[in-house]
Amino acid sequence: MSKNFDVIVIGGGPGGYIAAIRAAQLGFNVACIDAWKNDKGGPAPGGTCTNVGCIPSKALLQSSEHYEHAAHHFADHGIGLKDLSIDVKKMLARKDTVVKQNNDGILYLFKKNKVSFFHGLGRFVRAVDGGYEVAVGDESLLGKHVIVATGSNARALPGVPFDEDNILSNDGALKVGAVPKTLGVIGSGVIGLEMGSVWRRLGAEVTVLEGLPTFLGAVDEQIAKEAHKAFTKQGLKIALGVKVGEVKSAKNGVTVAYVDAKGQPQELAVDKLIVSIGRVPNTTGLNAEAVGLQLDERGAIVVDADCRTNLPGVWAVGDVVRGPMLAHKAEEEGVAVAERIAGQHGHVNFNTIPWVIYTSPEIAWVGETEQQLKARGAAYKAGTFPFMANGRARALGDTTGMVKFLADAATDEILGVHIVGPMASELIAEAVVAMEFKASSEDIARICHAHPSLSEATKEAALAVDKRTLNF
Ligand code: FAD
Ligand code: NAI
Repeated sequence: MSKNFDVIVIGGGPGGYIAAIRAAQLGFNVACIDAWKNDKGGPAPGGTCTNVGCIPSKALLQSSEHYEHAAHHFADHGIGLKDLSIDVKKMLARKDTVVKQNNDGILYLFKKNKVSFFHGLGRFVRAVDGGYEVAVGDESLLGKHVIVATGSNARALPGVPFDEDNILSNDGALKVGAVPKTLGVIGSGVIGLEMGSVWRRLGAEVTVLEGLPTFLGAVDEQIAKEAHKAFTKQGLKIALGVKVGEVKSAKNGVTVAYVDAKGQPQELAVDKLIVSIGRVPNTTGLNAEAVGLQLDERGAIVVDADCRTNLPGVWAVGDVVRGPMLAHKAEEEGVAVAERIAGQHGHVNFNTIPWVIYTSPEIAWVGETEQQLKARGAAYKAGTFPFMANGRARALGDTTGMVKFLADAATDEILGVHIVGPMASELIAEAVVAMEFKASSEDIARICHAHPSLSEATKEAALAVDKRTLNF
C-alpha cells in the first residue's frame, strides 16, 4: 500500500533537507528520501555538502591551518615548539566526527519537524491523479508535490575516471591517508585551491594546472591578483593557460602530459592527482523519463526562475538546476519552493548570493566585479582599504589583502563588495545585508564598527569610495 504525503523531497542535501523542514513547518505532511550511505551502510543525510563537501573540507582546512600556524607563525608570538608532527589519521578521524555530528543533526531535525525519512534511491514511477508515485526500495509513496534536490557529482577528465586512490575527486581528496610528497591539481577553481591549500600546508609540493589564461576569472581582477600573489608566496605552483593531455596512473603515482601557456610540451609527475574541473548535475536513478521530466543538454533539470519544472507540482532546487553550485543557494531555493507550495511568495535574490573561497587568505564577494561593471558600461566609484592598515589584522598577524567597495557613481548604491584577507567569509555578511537593503556606501561608512575589529576595514573601504579613509 502506498503512503500519502503532501510533499515528497528527493535528496537530503542542503537543498532537500531544508526544503523538507520548511515544508513541515508550514504544516505539510512531508517525506524526504536520501540515498547517501555512511561507511556502515546507514543513512548519512546532508548530501555532498555534509559528507564530501563544505563541512569536511572546512574541517581539514582548519586542522591544516593550525598546523601551518604552529610550524611557521607561533615563533612570532614567542611560542616555541619541539617535534611538531601531524597525525593524518587522527585529523581525518576528527573530520569524520564533524561530518557524523552533522548527519545526526539532520536526522534529529527530521524527527523534531515530523519529516518522514526514507533511506534509499527515490525514483519516479508515474504521474497519478493529483500527484506522483515515487518509489524507494519496495515502498511506494504518493505525493501531491515533489521537490527534486538530487545535487551534483564531480566532473572527470574525458577518459580519466576517478579511482579515488591516485586520481581523486573531492571525495578522495578528503581521504588521503598520508601527506603526499607531490600533489597535482587540475583546475584552479574553488576545490582546487581549497584542497590544494590543505595538503600544501601539511607539506606536499602542490602544482595546479589551470586551463584558462586568467586566475579565478569570476573573481574581481584586483582581488584575484592579490590572492594569486599570496598563494604563490605560500609555495602553491599555479600554471595558467595549460592544455592537459594524457593522464597516466601507475602504482607509484600519476603523470600528466600538458602543453604550457607558451605552447611547450611538459610533464608533471605526482604522487596523487586531484581533478577539480567543475561538477555535473545528478539525476542518476531518478527515472525522470517515467514522468517526462525535462533535462537540458548538461543533464540539469530545466526550471523557471521559481524552480518550477515542466511538470505541474514537480519542483527542483540546488545543484541539479541552473545557477551557482552553492549550499546556501540550494537552501534558499528549498525554502522558497516550500513557501510557494504553501501559496506564499518565496523569493531568492540571485544578486546577493555571497561566494566564499576558504583559503588563507579567504576570498569572499557579493554583487558585481569591477570587470563586469566596465563590461556593461556602468558609471561606478571604487574604494579599497588594505588589512595592513587595520589594527586588529596587525594584532592577528594576518595583514594580507583588502576590502573593496564598488558603488554607483550617481546614487552611491553598493553594487559589489570584494574581500581578500582574514575572515573574509564572516565579513562578507555585512555587505550582503547592506546590498539586500539597497544601502549606499555612505550608509556603511556612517555605521559605528567595533574597534579593534576586521570589520573596520569594511567601514574604511566604504569611506574610501568617497576618498575619505581615516586610517590610510
Ligand atoms: P547535494 O548536497 O549534492 O545533495 C543531494 C543528495 O541527494 C545527496 O545526498 C544524494 O545522495 C541524494 N540523491 C541523489 N539522487 C537521489 C535519488 N534518486 N534518491 C535519493 N537521494 C538521491 N558550497 C558552499 O556553499 N560552501 C562551501 O564551502 C562548499 N564547499 C564545497 C566543497 C567541496 C569539496 C564540494 C564538492 C562542494 C562544496 N560546496 C560548497 C558545494 C555544495 O556542496 C553544493 O552546492 C551543495 O551540496 C548542493 O546541495 P544540493 O542539496 O543541491 O545537493
Ligand atoms: P570550479 O568551477 O570552481 O573550477 C574549475 C576550474 O577548472 C576552472 O578554473 C576551470 O577553468 C578549470 N578547468 C576546467 N576544465 C579544465 C581542464 N580540462 N584542464 C584544466 N583546467 C580546467 O569547479 P570545482 O573547483 O570543481 O568546484 C565545483 C563547484 O563546487 C564550485 O564551482 C562551487 O560551486 C562548489 N564549491 C564551492 C566551495 C565554496 O563555496 N567554498 C568550495 C568547493 C566547491
